[in-house]
Amino acid sequence: MLQRSGHMNQTGTGFSELELALQMGSKQVDAVLERLLPPPGGLQCRVQDAMRYAIFAGGKRLRPFLLMQSACLFGVAPVQALRAAAAIEAVHTYSLVHDDLPCMDDDDLRRGRPTTHRAFDEATAVLAGDALLTIAFEIVADPDTHPSGEVRARLVAELARASGTLGMIGGQTIDIEAPSHAFGADEVILLQRLKTGALFEFCCVAGPILAEAGGEHEERLRAYARAFGLVFQITDDLLDVLSTAEKTGKAVGKDAKQGKATLVSLVGIEAARARAEDLAVQAAEIVAPYGAPANSLQALPKYLLTREA
Ligand code: IPE
Ligand code: IPE
Ligand code: MG
Ligand code: MG
Ligand code: MG
Repeated sequence: MLQRSGHMNQTGTGFSELELALQMGSKQVDAVLERLLPPPGGLQCRVQDAMRYAIFAGGKRLRPFLLMQSACLFGVAPVQALRAAAAIEAVHTYSLVHDDLPCMDDDDLRRGRPTTHRAFDEATAVLAGDALLTIAFEIVADPDTHPSGEVRARLVAELARASGTLGMIGGQTIDIEAPSHAFGADEVILLQRLKTGALFEFCCVAGPILAEAGGEHEERLRAYARAFGLVFQITDDLLDVLSTAEKTGKAVGKDAKQGKATLVSLVGIEAARARAEDLAVQAAEIVAPYGAPANSLQALPKYLLTREA
């Protein structure tokens, strides 16, 4: 089994402060997840074991980090933000468990270890994914996440939209159908905005929603998330071509083999990288007006360009 920490470990790239913050954020959200996920027990312990197996496998925890940073801009209490952060990581992990199933990308390796359906079985992986999705809504709907029912309802609605056919699931279905279409750049960008970007949008608007900061801030953070999401997915697609399973903890070289529609396959490595670089600058500019509290949000997309995992 491959051993990896889940962190990007890019020492020497001038991002040491950000790396430290990422590591701290990861520890914080893991502690909350540990508390919120059901302890395995009783006749249903197999699926509860599988949920924990999938989530505590060393993911980078980028979505919780974004959520915490966006919440921090508006002075949201960290205990509240961490609950929303745990919820989005649960949704993200569910999306990975299902993405890896034989009926989807059919992958054997995830986060440096056998995929959930490999370690358990397909039925358990489907159920563990479903349970991770549903517990996310339980977490967000709990009064501990925010005292106002209206705010909680807004978060629930935002999370549902980000996860559904106008968000991640919509992107996944286009992704699956892509090999039989000749998609152009606009379609690939839409696909990526939905399959990957939508969950990042939730992370970024959760801060202003929890703070009741108003629509203008939500729109600014949403615009940041859209640029960020594309940077992220382009680098994921680049890593599929350029990196190794040892570094990424998942199989590489699969996009071309499966005929996936990516910007890399469409315009080539250099043009895709240039596009990601432009988008990283754009993302940073969008949150620059928030000043020093937005330093991590400004640095993160640029850091992603240097990632190897
Ligand atoms: C992988 O996401 C799936 C995509 C959306 C491309 P991450 O690269 O954030 O996965 P983890 O959470 O670090 O494992
Ligand atoms: C997966 O995209 C996106 C979601 C799970 C929503 P990919 O299929 O590119 O992710 P990896 O490369 O398997 O992590
Ligand atoms: Mg996929
Ligand atoms: Mg996949
Ligand atoms: Mg990929």
